[in-house]
Amino acid sequence: MEGLMQQKLILEDRMKSPARVLQEIADKNQLDVQRKEFASFMDQNDPLKDFRKRFAYPKNGTLKGTDPALANPEDDSLYLCSQAMGLKPRTADREVQSILERWGGSGVQMYFHEPVPALYSDRYGRESLGRLVGADPCSVVLMNSLTVNLHLLMLSFYQPTPQRYKIVIEAETFPSDRYAMVSQAELRGYSPEEAVIEIHRREGERTIRNEDVIELLEREGSSIAVVCMSGVHYCTGQKFDMAAITRAGRKAGCMVGWDLAHAIGNVNLELDNWGVDFAFWGANKYLNSGPGGVGGAYVNKRHNGSRIPSLRGWFSNKEATRLQMKHRCDLDDGVDSFRLSSPSSLLIPIVLASLKIFDEAGMPRLLEKQYLLTGYLELLIKSHLGSNGLPVRAEIVTPEDVNQRGCQLSLVFNTSLTQVLQELTKRGVVCDVRPPNVMRVTPSPLYNTFSDVHTFVSIIKDILATCRPDNIPEESCP
Ligand SMILES: Cc1ncc(COP(=O)(O)O)c(C=O)c1O
Repeated sequence: MEGLMQQKLILEDRMKSPARVLQEIADKNQLDVQRKEFASFMDQNDPLKDFRKRFAYPKNGTLKGTDPALANPEDDSLYLCSQAMGLKPRTADREVQSILERWGGSGVQMYFHEPVPALYSDRYGRESLGRLVGADPCSVVLMNSLTVNLHLLMLSFYQPTPQRYKIVIEAETFPSDRYAMVSQAELRGYSPEEAVIEIHRREGERTIRNEDVIELLEREGSSIAVVCMSGVHYCTGQKFDMAAITRAGRKAGCMVGWDLAHAIGNVNLELDNWGVDFAFWGANKYLNSGPGGVGGAYVNKRHNGSRIPSLRGWFSNKEATRLQMKHRCDLDDGVDSFRLSSPSSLLIPIVLASLKIFDEAGMPRLLEKQYLLTGYLELLIKSHLGSNGLPVRAEIVTPEDVNQRGCQLSLVFNTSLTQVLQELTKRGVVCDVRPPNVMRVTPSPLYNTFSDVHTFVSIIKDILATCRPDNIPEESCP
């Protein structure tokens, strides 16, 4: 895609719509942007094309619900679901197997010995993680899973006072995050109604306006203790303006945290530059580290040494003195002080296998491809599924502005999705539906092709042609 690189698709310069850039590439090469030949041309010229081979691709035959008459069991499925579960790096098997062998071969000695001493396995990957979230490697750590990290960080960063006790989240957030924030407020003796503020989208709009968040922080900031929203919304795929919201929150004297479940490995993150106080994430989505994989946390260095109250365990103790088994905890600093128990030696190698791939591909190149790949999906959906003239059609909920989204596009249809999803599954297409009526479709720049996108749109177009419009109540849509 040398030609594409020359288009200087640098992150800050996304002035042109991807549709326009794609059209220019097609014109220059005398291709029709709508046709399969264009998708193949883009794939042949994709500098990241070899990364697909680094992942295990589910075959149609191993997926439930596929129809062998419609999807050859030997073929790779059409996997467009990295917002829910990233694919397995092929090297993960070998890495995990080698840990099992070391355990079998050396028992307790594996705690201390190279190549990855089990007791210190969370040391590894810090540089790569730091690159992914835009942070000093010392400010990030691999530990636990998302909700556990959310609670550990909130226990410290949420220090309500009679004047400043509110927690701000986005409305329609991932339900688990809401449960967690409500329980944090209740734990401190507040009713969720008084302490948890949910920012809504405006009536008739699909996504939340950044300016509404900022306006709330300016208006009510003095009563807000913590702002903790999702960097990328799980359902709509909207990426919030994390820089501006963090700035406004800090200006109002609030602590600002981010749930990066759908952001890490998906969008550009600059936690240090933005001055974020804390952040946390899971690893099963864009980080390709499997169900229940090891998540992570970030704490800004300015909190080092501040001794904010936190829960402790032996891993909160400095590494150098941990095994001295002292009566008092010799508390580590910054994010490391939030660790409680031994890292999972069996799971960490999977994250490391994935981080290695991210390092090789590089986030800037992934973002360049994402801009075009998700842009191509958008272009084809608008051309083939979006026309008002069609009885059954799709509308894209995710913002059109590429600075306000990542890989994912969320679609709503004027027909029930149960049948559509079933028909897609029969044909080996993997995407998902979030109740009541949002379909999430996510081409990953690491392992999806422009041809995947083209095939998806032609398959769903044929399916929709056989569906009847239903009356979907407007209030059920995001
Ligand atoms: C936005 C968001 N928050 C929280 C979670 C829960 O993550 P975990 O099960 O790792 O605690 C998820 C999982 O999908 C999520 O998408």
